[in-house]
Formats: sequence, structure tokens, C-alpha cells
Amino acid sequence: MLYSSKQLIESIGQTTSKKPATSDTMFSPLFNPIPEPSEKLIIEGRGNYSPRNTMNNLTGKEWIKFTRSWFEHHPPPRNKKNLEHLHPAKFPEDLIAQFIKFFTKEGMWVLDPFVGTGSTLVACDQTNRNGVGIELTKKWAELAARRTKQYIILGDSRDIPNLTLPKFDFCISSPPYWDMLHHSRGGSDSTQKARIAEGFDAAFSDDELDMGNIPEYSEFLTNLLELYAGIYEVMRPGAYIAVVMQNLLKAKQQFYPIAWEFALKMRDYGWQMCQEFLWVQRDKKLGIWGYPNTYISNVHHHYFLIFRKPKPRPPVRKRKSKKKSPNQTKTEK
Ligand SMILES: C[S@@+](CC[C@H](N)C(=O)[O-])C[C@H]1O[C@@H](n2cnc3c(N)ncnc32)[C@H](O)[C@@H]1O
Repeated sequence: MLYSSKQLIESIGQTTSKKPATSDTMFSPLFNPIPEPSEKLIIEGRGNYSPRNTMNNLTGKEWIKFTRSWFEHHPPPRNKKNLEHLHPAKFPEDLIAQFIKFFTKEGMWVLDPFVGTGSTLVACDQTNRNGVGIELTKKWAELAARRTKQYIILGDSRDIPNLTLPKFDFCISSPPYWDMLHHSRGGSDSTQKARIAEGFDAAFSDDELDMGNIPEYSEFLTNLLELYAGIYEVMRPGAYIAVVMQNLLKAKQQFYPIAWEFALKMRDYGWQMCQEFLWVQRDKKLGIWGYPNTYISNVHHHYFLIFRKPKPRPPVRKRKSKKKSPNQTKTEK
């Protein structure tokens, strides 16, 4: 379902003669939770499932497999039939499905504020989760809508505070790595060069609202942090989010540690920084940079930065103070 964010904003401001839309009426779930067992289950071939598992539907054996802090992933080639190869930076849905399966249970709600071709929503379809994606560029939002029946909002994610949305249990997204797509990534980065030569889009759009078109680094970072401050408000307390990021080296050795700066500053907005995963791209072709006098690495990894919206602390119980009898003096204690 494709909505425009304007439609959603207007639906909140409807006059009293019409019933205003709420997140329940707007976003009815496509998938429902599966009943929880009352005692420990032994699932053939999968291991033990604990009824105390509040996080996901995984057994201990499946849980542990996910927790290595680095991974390699070899995605299948992009599907040309549904045109998803047109987008310059989509992530593989089978990889995202693994994150969704770890951080949610079936029937829970997942948000992707930079949904692009809808990979996160396709992963939600595959894993029986409910998904909402937001995308600024009509072309990508429409492409996403062809791939999934989940909810897609055409608009700027910075508008999240003005939208009627469900409460989310997980958020996963890959924001633009600032203006990376506008810069040459060297002679041997053949995929990008070949795309341009074939007449494909090298950037997401030329819209000035596109976060990939913000010219100043500090402005990009502030915009991204504020966007995630809006996301904070629509997450359930205790929910996790994953942000896919990379640091950036520009011409003349200017290094922009986007991932690290973003991660540290997220704490100022209330997020609890958990840990990071490293997605290692072992198969990427090596380029010879800087040779023979300057160190420049082949950046063949991405970070999956994990944050959590803290749960409110339970109220501190006041200890009952023993009443002193009126005749009691200090020395009598
Ligand atoms: C790295 S891509 C995400 C690709 C997506 N994960 C996929 O698999 O197709 C970033 C996306 O964010 C979109 N975008 C940029 N600025 C935006 C904004 N302010 N609000 C919503 N989407 C935005 C871009 O159009 C682009 O499609």
C-alpha cells in the first residue's frame, strides 16, 4: 500500500465530523503473533525454545549463530525482472531478514525510514512481520510497492513526528552515506562506473530533500541525528534499531568518520549504544590506491550499528523508615 505522507498528515488533521485516522485504522497488521508456549519446547532440528524469550522466536542454538560480531554475506544477483537493479544502493533482503528474525517476533512491527526498493518490507513478508517503509523518491517508492503488500509512505522521513504511525518493535535502515554517490570511488570500482556507463542512476535523486544531496557534512549529520530523534518517539521502549553505515574518505585524504560520529552522538538523543556488526565484503575487487607513497585502504566493510531505546526504570521503592519512639535517644540504639 502506497500512501503519501501528505495524505497521512491530513488524515490526522481531519475535522471532527470525520473520525480521525489512528494508527490502528490506518495500519492493520498483515501478520499476527504466533502463540507463545507455556513451557520449554524442544523443536526438532532447531534446539530448545524458552518461553522466557521476549525477543524473538529463535531457539538458543539459532540465537547464538547470529551473535558473532562480524559476518560475510553473499547476496544473490539483483532481480532485473522487477527492476530492483536500477537503484544505486539496495541491501540484500535475505541479510535483513536475519536481523528482523533476531530483533523481533512474528507479527511485530518493523520500520525502515529509507526504504528505497523495499528490501526491508520484502524481508518482512518473508518472515511474517508487519512493515512500514518511508521513501522520498517516487520512482523507488513505486518500485517498492510492486514488490510488497506492506505499507509504504512516499515522503520525507524527517516528517515522522507529524505522522500517525504504529509503535515499532525494530527499525532497520541504510541511510545515504552522506553524498558518497556524487563522488568518484576510483578507477577499479567497476560496478559503479559500469552502472553510469549503462545509463543507470548514479545517485538516488536530485531532490534537495534527499539526505544524499546535503552539501555540508555537519548539516548532514545533524539532519540524520534529528531524523533518528523522531524515530525514537515511535519506537517501543526497549526496542532496538540497526543503522547500516560506512566511514568515508574523500579526495585529498579528507576522512569523514560518519559511522563513528553518528554512533557517539546518538547517545545525546537518548539512544543506548549497544554494539556493532561488521559486514565483511571479502569478494569485492581490490583497487590499488595511494601506491607507492600513501596509505589508502580498500573499504570492504559496512557497520550495522545497534542502538536501543532504553526501558523506563522501575520506580525506586522507598524503604519504610522505622518510627522512633518519642523517648528513644541516640545512645539507646
Ligand atoms: C541507501 S538507500 C536505501 C536502499 C534500501 N535499503 C534498499 O534496499 O533498496 C537510501 C534511500 O533513502 C532515500 N532517502 C534519501 N533522503 C530521504 C529522506 N529525507 N526521507 C526518506 N527517504 C530518503 C533515497 O531516495 C534512497 O532510496
